[in-house]
Amino acid sequence: MNICVIGAGYVGLITALCFGKKGNTVICVEKNLDKLSMLNNGVPTIFEEGLDELLKESLNTDSVKFTDNLEMGIKSSDIIFIAVGTPTKDNWDVDIGQVEVVINLISPYINKYKVVVTKSTVPVGTQKYITSKLLENNVPKEYFDVVSNPEFLREGKAIYDFFHGDKIVLGSESQKALEVMRKLYEPFKIKMVLTNPETAELIKYTSNAMLSVKISFINEIANLCNKACADIDVIAYALGLDKRISPLFLKAGLGYGGSCFPKDTKALVKMSENYNCNLNIVKATVDVNEKQRVLPVDILLEHYKIIEGKTVGILGLTFKPDTDDIREAPSLYIIEKLLKNKVNIKAYDPMVTKEIKNIFPDITYCDGVYECLEDCDAMIICTEWNEFYSIDLCKVNEIMRESIIIDGRNILDIEKIKEANIKAYYSVGKGNIKN
Ligand code: UDX
Repeated sequence: MNICVIGAGYVGLITALCFGKKGNTVICVEKNLDKLSMLNNGVPTIFEEGLDELLKESLNTDSVKFTDNLEMGIKSSDIIFIAVGTPTKDNWDVDIGQVEVVINLISPYINKYKVVVTKSTVPVGTQKYITSKLLENNVPKEYFDVVSNPEFLREGKAIYDFFHGDKIVLGSESQKALEVMRKLYEPFKIKMVLTNPETAELIKYTSNAMLSVKISFINEIANLCNKACADIDVIAYALGLDKRISPLFLKAGLGYGGSCFPKDTKALVKMSENYNCNLNIVKATVDVNEKQRVLPVDILLEHYKIIEGKTVGILGLTFKPDTDDIREAPSLYIIEKLLKNKVNIKAYDPMVTKEIKNIFPDITYCDGVYECLEDCDAMIICTEWNEFYSIDLCKVNEIMRESIIIDGRNILDIEKIKEANIKAYYSVGKGNIKN
């Protein structure tokens, strides 16, 4: 099939390449010329497993073209995917401004029947809005149908998820458009959920909210575990043995971050309020997460009483391992709160980007774990990067001014902590040790 994908961000780029790999002819339209030049030269614009190879293969086989020529992209395609950003405004409403701009730009080029698909996460009612906007722009009604097709791609595993996802959700009022989409996705052999637009739009938010609820729930229980001398990992394991609960998304830590969960939970709360409906559980989930992500600072304040002038080493800055993404990472909130308390900060992340240096220019960025921990009064593990699991705790005890460890991801072995004579160890629901 002939496909046009508008936007070469995380979602658009993966969508374009994966459809290309399945034998479609794809044009990916991107207005950022630097990004375009990188992609056309086979240079990945994001860090994603398998992207380098897939991008090069797509360029070699000519299955995907990257261009800023929207007219060419729209006129030569049967299916148009909109994959632009939909950020959350300060009042938690979703900003669909970029989608509106795209609709206005593509309207003049819809010269025969095309299926317009929203891949971006958009609030309930957006499909109706797009339809009315296209009609308002004088696109004949027989020239288009709109389909909602939300993505469920994890960063870092997005290519795998595209080919092996649990579900494909398609929402439309048009049977004709649903049939086109069903054919497009048939080779993927993934279960499809065909429904109306509003349901499809809401599935995306509900799915991310449900996973966020699990995380905030297990984090609240973890905080109770610390007080009740119980072990959160054992509790999560036992819960996970119950097939009705599933073992996934029960890892206690510093809460969820990234480009989706924080934004989508807030948007769902706001959306429900606009419908005069209260989603108390999702609201509480957001609230718990906002407290959880700065838990290490509260622990430090309780430990030291006064933390001004102390030096803290932060291990891990990204919102999860194996990504270069710092959006909504707990580390950002921890650093901000530590700086407010006049703490000196050293930080190390195996993938740290220039981006974070622009946000916090005045902290010391290090090239390795031990350089980061040298002369620190405390350390905080914010991200569970593989290399942090095997930190030499005896060496840590030697080089830190005071070996106060806050293990925000519960990755260190308590027996090894005891052997290394660490001064104090704080976990998230696995107990604390103080010498
Ligand atoms: C998520 C969804 O999984 C994906 O389906 C959606 O479309 C986009 O958002 P992503 O943001 O890449 O993907 O990250 P994910 O791996 O789901 O983790 C999200 C956050 O939850 C991370 O900050 C992670 O550290 C945290 N998390 C996850 C936990 O704290 N505990 C867990 O058990 C699982």
